[in-house]
Formats: sequence, structure tokens, C-alpha cells
Amino acid sequence: MTTAPRKLHIKSFGCQMNVYDAQRMVDTLAPEGFVETANADDADLVILNTCHIREKASEKVYSELGKLRLAKAEAAQHGKQMNVVVAGCVAQAEGDEIIRRAPVVDVVVGPQSYHNLPQLLAKARDGERALDTDFPVEDKFGFLPAPKPAAIRARGISAFVTVQEGCDKFCTFCVVPYTRGAEVSRPVAKIIEDTERLADNGVREITLIGQNVNGYHGEGPDGRPWALGQLIFRLAEIPGIARIRYSTSHPRDVEDTLIAAHRDLPQLMPFVHLPVQSGSDRILAAMNRKHTAADYRRVIERFRSARQDIAFTSDFIVGFPGETEQDFADTLALVTQIGYAGAYSFKYSPRPGTPAAELQETVSQADMDERLTRLQTLIDSQQAAFNKAAVGKTVDVLFERAARNPGQIVGRTAFLQPAHVMASEDIIGKILPVQVESLERYSLIGTLATATHPPLSSSELSQPVLTATGA
Ligand code: 5AD
Ligand code: SF4
Repeated sequence: MTTAPRKLHIKSFGCQMNVYDAQRMVDTLAPEGFVETANADDADLVILNTCHIREKASEKVYSELGKLRLAKAEAAQHGKQMNVVVAGCVAQAEGDEIIRRAPVVDVVVGPQSYHNLPQLLAKARDGERALDTDFPVEDKFGFLPAPKPAAIRARGISAFVTVQEGCDKFCTFCVVPYTRGAEVSRPVAKIIEDTERLADNGVREITLIGQNVNGYHGEGPDGRPWALGQLIFRLAEIPGIARIRYSTSHPRDVEDTLIAAHRDLPQLMPFVHLPVQSGSDRILAAMNRKHTAADYRRVIERFRSARQDIAFTSDFIVGFPGETEQDFADTLALVTQIGYAGAYSFKYSPRPGTPAAELQETVSQADMDERLTRLQTLIDSQQAAFNKAAVGKTVDVLFERAARNPGQIVGRTAFLQPAHVMASEDIIGKILPVQVESLERYSLIGTLATATHPPLSSSELSQPVLTATGA
């Protein structure tokens, strides 16, 4: 590439899939001469990688575009061209409207078309506006953003790997089946290839991601569809990969091979995000979840019988149309019974085009607020108890980077709790036992429990420590 590097700023909202897609977009644009910058104002190209899951999330796009309008005008005054791209699920769902409403936008690109970014940008540089929100039909794996494997660069110790995309579950409140399309699984061979390359680049932990990750049924090397558990057994054989996680799972798709993987593989972390949304069978039916609260409890029991120390997180929606105080009480009862390590809870937000948006809303904003507070208070207390239980114990931590405080290195426990110790940077990438001494907000503070890494002397601790780079 002979031209000077151009600066690319990417801002991602929403889920892990968007974080991953943002990295893929950076990888796709690197051969075009783009390098990432942390600042939108001096960028030649700004990409908003948007989320459409709830109303609040998608409203952000227009406020961000307002700011970019000023930045673009400012750049133009200095004779510089700034291009603005809207990517992600708002692009997919409202592409035409964005083009109509926001002249600042040069390109609108849906999640299935990121590989077309170079061509779309070429059009934009010629002064044309471009919209690409097609769902490709011929090559069913082609739409996964797929730069050449050589372009996959590791960014630290922990990395995401997409294994499937889209969802066929059609929960009545959810836009995902419309924005991300039908469920498609990547072939096992491709996932192995990606993971081996990441391991060669120093990655020690992979998180397999997909909107319905345990619906995975990619083609195996034997030509048959493999389930997620089977895939995990194979990935656990890759040298260097010390930890494996997966997200997000649906309670209906928990197969026995996944339970067996939790039983047999120490690499598979005992920490599972298993959204239930509600504890009321009436509401679960109205949500088209196709499981009852009792079904969910049974799934949890299957995990627990395979691995005693397993912990769960979940998602909840309060105020779904028709939710009564009794339905909500059923949700609180389920939470109390399961005991979570954490959970996300949201007020119901009607999404255009979903079946639930046709339902009469019955829960007032005030009642939704009140239910949300009660649920969050319960979950917070469970989370605090879970974190507190680590104090005084020795836990394994995978160290990821230098922390903000000089001399501290931060890593994560099996349960994704951040853990800080004073140590030298050569522990980064290693899993070491940490004696946990205290809890500061959500972070565990401790000391290395191994003899090979004595605590640093005070003179060493006063040395400046490089801050971590990367996301
Ligand atoms: N309103 C509120 N929350 C929603 N979620 C998905 N759609 C909606 C909606 N329309 C929540 C669900 C899901 C999480 C990612 O977002 O809890 O699991
Ligand atoms: Fe949305 Fe998850 Fe339901 Fe799929 S399973 S429709 S992604 S909430």
C-alpha cells in the first residue's frame, strides 16, 4: 500500500457479536490502508456499529449522527473528507430511513455485508451514497464477515470466535431473527482454523459467540452436523487454549454433549449465561419461549449435576404485555430459587415488526420501574454474595493486562470476576492461583499464591508500568 494510512474510528454498541464484528471490520479495512484511531474527530472514516435490541439502544444512533454532522462539517472546512458509515442492526432494520433522515451518512451496511465495505467506501469517496442490507442467498456461509484467515490478528489474551449467527427462535419481543436473519452455523473446520491462528498469536481464552450459540449445528469433518458440545471437545485439544466459554445460550437447546463437556473438560469454564426472561409460565408462553419455568430449572439441574461449582447469569424482561404482579412474583421466586452470579434486567420495549409490538401494553412505566428496581435489588444482592464468597479463597486467574494502578496486573477468574494483584508483567497470559484478600466493588484484590512469583519489592512497585494497549 503506497498511500498514507487513513484513520478509522469504530464505535460499537450492544452485544459481543458487535464487538467481534467491529474487529472484523478493522481487519477487512486494514488492507485498504486504514488504521484504528481512538478519536472520531480526526478520523477519515467513522463507523457506528449499532444495536437495535431495545428502543434506547437504537435511539443512540441519531444522537451520535448529530455529533458526527458537526465533525464532518469541521473536517470539510479543513479540506478533509470524513466518511460516515452506519453498520449493525439499526442499519439492517432501518437502512432506508437512515439514508432519508441523515444526509451525514455515506454508507449503510447490514451485518451480512461487511465484506463489501471496501467497494461501498469506494462509492462514498466518489460522492455516492450506498446502502447494502441484503441477506445473501447463494453462499450461506459467505455472509459471515470473513477476511482472509491471515488477517485475523490477536488482540490480547482473550478473543471471541463466531460459531453461528442469527436465530430461528422468534421470541415475540425480539428483533434478532429479523436483523441477524435465520440461524446459520459455521463449519467446524473454519472454527478450528480461526482458533489455531488465535492460539498461535498468544490467545489463551476463546469465547464462542452466537445469538443462539447452543443451537450450533455446523458441518463437522465427518460431513455430519456437530453440536456445540462436540465442537468444544475438539477445540479443547488445541494447544495453548486454556479456557473456553460460550454465549448466548437458549434453555431449549442444551444437549447432553454440552453437559458432558462441562463434566469432562477443565478448559470449559463453569460459568453459563442462560437467559430465562421471566419466571411465569403464562408470560413465557406469550413470549414464545417454548419452555416453562420448571423446564428451565431442570436444565439448570443438569448443568449442576455435571459440575457442582457452575454459576449462572441470565437476562430478564419486566413489564411484558399482560405481566401481572403474580407473574412478576414468579420471576422473583425463580431468581431466589436459582441463585445467580449476576443478571441483566430490562424494561420491556416494544420493537417495530415484532409480534409483541401488536399487543396492548398493560404495565405502566411506573410499575415497570418499580419491578425493575425490585428485581435488580434481588440480583445485586445475589451477585454481591457470590463475589464475597471468593474472599479468603484461592482462585485461578488468567492474567490479561497491566491494570490502571501502577504495578497491578489484572486478570479474570473462571467466573469473569476481575482480579488484581501486584506482580510483574511476565504473568500476563498465565493462569495462576490467587489468594483473594478483599473485594473492591466488583473486583477481587489478592496476592499470587505461587512461590514462583513473590510479591514485588516496594522499590520495584514504584517503577512506572506500561498501560495496556488494545480494547
Ligand atoms: N425489550 C426489552 N428487552 C429486550 N431484550 C430483547 N428484546 C427486548 C425488548 N424488546 C433483552 C432480552 C435479551 C437481551 C439481549 O435483551 O432479555 O435476552
Ligand atoms: Fe431473540 Fe434470543 Fe429469542 Fe433468538 S432466542 S429470538 S436472539 S431472545
